[in-house]
This record gives sequence, structure tokens and C-alpha cells, in this order.
Amino acid sequence: MKKLLVATGGGDCPGLNAVIRGICKRAKKSKQWEVYGSKEAFNGVNEDPPRIIKLSGKKTAGIHVRGGTILKTTNKADPLHFPVKGADGSITFEDRTQELADKIKSLGFDAVINIGGDGSQKISKALFDKGLPIVGVPKTIDNDLAATDVTFGFQTAVQIASDSFDKLVTTAESHHRVMIMEVMGRDAGWIALHTAISGGAEICLIPEIPYDLAKIVKRIESRYDKHRGFVNIVIAEGAKPKEGSIVSREGDEGSRHVRLGGVAYQLSEQLKEAGIRAEIRETVLGHVQRGGTPTAYDRVLASLFGVKAFDMVMAGEFGKMAAFVNNDFVSVPLENATKEYNVVDKDSFLVDGARGLGIEFGD
Ligand code: F6P
Repeated sequence: MKKLLVATGGGDCPGLNAVIRGICKRAKKSKQWEVYGSKEAFNGVNEDPPRIIKLSGKKTAGIHVRGGTILKTTNKADPLHFPVKGADGSITFEDRTQELADKIKSLGFDAVINIGGDGSQKISKALFDKGLPIVGVPKTIDNDLAATDVTFGFQTAVQIASDSFDKLVTTAESHHRVMIMEVMGRDAGWIALHTAISGGAEICLIPEIPYDLAKIVKRIESRYDKHRGFVNIVIAEGAKPKEGSIVSREGDEGSRHVRLGGVAYQLSEQLKEAGIRAEIRETVLGHVQRGGTPTAYDRVLASLFGVKAFDMVMAGEFGKMAAFVNNDFVSVPLENATKEYNVVDKDSFLVDGARGLGIEFGD
């Protein structure tokens, strides 16, 4: 029997368990491979004794409906930037991927499947370059991985954000308020934009389209002038104002974002300073967006990513990532998946269509 090692790295994400189950189910059918899991990304490999578990049918039965990962995860273990403390107490970072690749091989593993986002797939690529037969699976609620049309977890995050948005509209309408909802997404606006379209937001602010505060103020005022009397805003955590659109004050040392705790609070302050007198309330959704059970769509996507990744192992397609492109499960070079981020194209129909629905981006 050959030995396959599976790891989940980076932030937890709905669908991780479905991928693990998909790999195990397909592997069982092959009758040639035993599947093992490293605990907390590749931390389990490095420990003595290694924290590696055998993934039997019993351990993975029915887990596709559960959020999180049965293998646990971390975004603090990066073998590409391993922290080393110098004699003077200073910290430098070393590339330890050769040691990790050698360790995995010395433990008797013939192949590895690494389930993770951009950071994890950069590690996969480095491990492959160091001679480890490895396959990647694209995970992230942010949907910012290149070379795949979609990542699992994204649809669940949008569903949660959209459900939350619907609940906030109730208060906006009843109290004639401006409601600001901040969503995750790192430097990409996918979650925000999809949520804004799904929920019917008036304003959507994303990192790809820096906003002009004056335009946002104008839109809000026009809503109140027309006696519509409420505004719903979705703001991505990476959204930023256009340079010069916010007048910085004396002593404003640029730390307000951090002090106030999120861009929703920052925008709220900006709007008040710009003279918006309507009541404004802020909601930062945070980690509820990646918690709980995956949607049916993500269960299907993640389960099939698991099967596809195992098929790639069987076919010896290493140094590649399973991807969903043009409605098909394919394999793409890890290099293509990691050389750039997949962010919203401001000239795409997605953005133009959103404008068509009356959504203001503030540009
Ligand atoms: O990449 C997924 C993500 O949830 C981002 O949307 C967010 O910026 C980040 O992770 C949060 O990371 P952490 O869980 O470490 O706070």
C-alpha cells in the first residue's frame, strides 16, 4: 500500500472536511493507497512523535456537512518564513521547506495533498520544487486564488453575509438608518460585491475600486431627499478611500482604522464628519462568515475537489492544483495559482451589472 498525507492549512473554511472525505472515499476505492492526516497544517509532521492520524472510513463518515477541519489548522506555521531567534534576540526568517519535504518523505509518504489558500499553495509549490510529490486544493472564503474560477467556502461566506444583510435591512427601514456591514475578503471584494447584489445594497465599497467619500455622501443624501429614508452599505474589509477624498486633520496619525476596530467604524466616522445626520450603525460580521456548515453548493464543490485531487495523485499529476474552470474540474500548475491574486475586475460585467442594479461604488 502507498501512503498519502493530507494537510489543511491557513484559516478554517466551510468545505475542508468535505474535501478530506472525498479524498478518502476515492482512495478506498483504489485499494492502493492509505490516507493519513497531519494535524495543524504541517505542524504534525515536525513534532516528535509526529501528530499524524490514519484517516479511516470511520473517522471521515458524514464529516462533509461539518464546518472547520477535523485535522485542525493554523495560519501561523509557514515553513517558507520560519522564525529563527538570533543570539541578540532579533528574529530572522528562514526557508525550511527542504527540511519539511525530506521529513515527509522520511516518514514513508509517497504523495501529499495540501488543502489551503494562497499562502498554503505557495508552500505546496516550494515543497514540489524540493522534490515532494504534492497536489494542491484551492480553499478560501475570499475567492482570491488565481487559476480557478471559484474556491470552496466562498459561496457559504456569501450566503451567511447575505442572510445577515437581510436582517440588517429590517432595522435600516424601520429606523430610517444608514446600516454599514463589513465583510471579510482580504484584498479582494468578491464577498462584498456578491452580498451587495444578493441583498440589494445601495452602496458597495471594495478594495478594487477606491471610493470618493463625497460621492457616497451624495448618494446617501439623495436617498433621504427622496424620502426613501434608509441606506444599506456593504464594505469589504480591504476597502479604502481614494487618495485625497478624506481630509486628514492635524494630529490624525493614520491609526484611526486600527483604533476603531474596522473599516465599518472608520466609514461611519467619515460620514458623520462629512455631515450625514441620519443615525448610522455598524456591523462587523467577522468569523461567522466562515463558520458552521457549508452550503450544498460548497459541499458538492469541495467533495469533488477531493476526488479530483486524489485522481491527480493516481495519475502522477504533481506540482499542480485541482481547479474548477469553465464548469469542469481540471488540474493547473501551482505556479499559475500562486503568481497573482484573483481580484474583482472593475471593468467586468459583474461590476457593470451591479451598477445596473443601482449599486454605488463611490468612484
Ligand atoms: O483569508 C480568510 C480570512 O477569513 C480573511 O477574509 C480575513 O482577512 C482573514 O482570513 C482573517 O484571519 P484570522 O482568522 O487569522 O483573523
